[in-house]
Amino acid sequence: MTFDYGDFSFASKDEMLAKSREFWNPGKTDFWVESGVPLVIDRREEYFLYDMSGKRLLDVHLNGGTYNLGHRNSEVATAVTAAMSHFDIGNHHFPAVTRTALAEALVSTAPKGLTKVIYGSGGGEAIDIALKTARHATQRRKIVSIVKAYHGHTGLAVSTGDERFSKLFLSDRPDEFVQVPFNDLAAMEQSLRLGDVAAVIMETIPATFGFPLPVAGYLEGVKRLCEEHGSLYVADEVQTGLMRTGELWGITKHGITPDIMVTGKGLSGGLYPISAVLATDRAAGWLTEDGFGHISTFGGAELGCIAALKTLEICNRPETRSMVHYISDLVGRGLRDIQADLPDWFVGIRQNGVVMGLEFAHPQGAKYVMRHLYENGVWAIFSTLDPSVLQYKPGILMRPELCEDLLDRTEVAIRRSLAEVRAEGWRGERVPA
Ligand SMILES: Cc1ncc(COP(=O)(O)O)c(C=O)c1O
Repeated sequence: MTFDYGDFSFASKDEMLAKSREFWNPGKTDFWVESGVPLVIDRREEYFLYDMSGKRLLDVHLNGGTYNLGHRNSEVATAVTAAMSHFDIGNHHFPAVTRTALAEALVSTAPKGLTKVIYGSGGGEAIDIALKTARHATQRRKIVSIVKAYHGHTGLAVSTGDERFSKLFLSDRPDEFVQVPFNDLAAMEQSLRLGDVAAVIMETIPATFGFPLPVAGYLEGVKRLCEEHGSLYVADEVQTGLMRTGELWGITKHGITPDIMVTGKGLSGGLYPISAVLATDRAAGWLTEDGFGHISTFGGAELGCIAALKTLEICNRPETRSMVHYISDLVGRGLRDIQADLPDWFVGIRQNGVVMGLEFAHPQGAKYVMRHLYENGVWAIFSTLDPSVLQYKPGILMRPELCEDLLDRTEVAIRRSLAEVRAEGWRGERVPA
């Protein structure tokens, strides 16, 4: 079967994979084929992906929330398509109607005190902007993050994360980037007490670490320590923002006004890359001192602003909020039923709204479940920094029938994964990670 896409074509899926290996990324291409997930996404609509083979998958990975509103959401697509008859990326040096309108919309929805918006084109760039902003405001260099944090792979962002990625490109800088264990306020205090830390950067719920939930009072305690020691609190809301927790910004559930807040991924409705940093007046002083301090040709691209304005408006609708609460109740309840039957294998559910991590007893358990889900028509990904946990991220507009279908398929996949590990000799013991 030939795959003809107009300006390019492939004779078969195998040929496409061979060329992907040859011209794109051999490591990634081989990883997925060897993992039993040889997915090459072709057609996409609503919460469905179609592999080149025609296989249909219900998407609960959503590219980390990028497709929060579904694939090619028709309202966002219409807005971007219409905008293309008037706008393009724009010129980043100048004031722009779209950038200004989106900045005003973001500020009006954000925790009070966040008054300025700086744009990037992806999450990592926005994190870099946030950290540069904190360094300028405090005139300090050190950044504290948590062990197994994930804030992206750009220059400063990668230095805050796991050494698997920071060491690869010689970006680990332990003198400037300090890591402390999650949910440990004593360790956080220890790292801040010298008064030389510019910022603490925290994912509101650490996604790539498998969504471990902050214990009651932890984030609030971190914010308090930041205030005591003159450090800024940077909230990474790239995966927890845009209504995924049932509130527009997850951090507001903790009553915290961060000094700096970062959003990306779902902000574009999945149709045009854009990310944004929101900052308080105190943090954002460089915008007045030297407005050209961060320059990015595609940061705040005007078509992206149009996509984001529509996305933000959809996320803010009362019926969207009700839908998130409905979906999280329905799916949460269904998962707890499955878990009650298999408590020694499916050992925990981490949930805040539709932010969900499913814990399995085996240290690589989520990889088994991921493959069986894939074979059974669902795409969900293991957590890179803790493969015992499956990231399970229903969309915020998922129809109830899709939620029911998802639960049925999930139960089958979880049972099959247990049968597989048992066949391999696993006897129910919890192997330490
Ligand atoms: C919490 C968080 N922050 C930042 C990023 C980086 O975003 P991007 O991949 O758009 O650079 C990610 C990406 O997965 C993320 O999950």
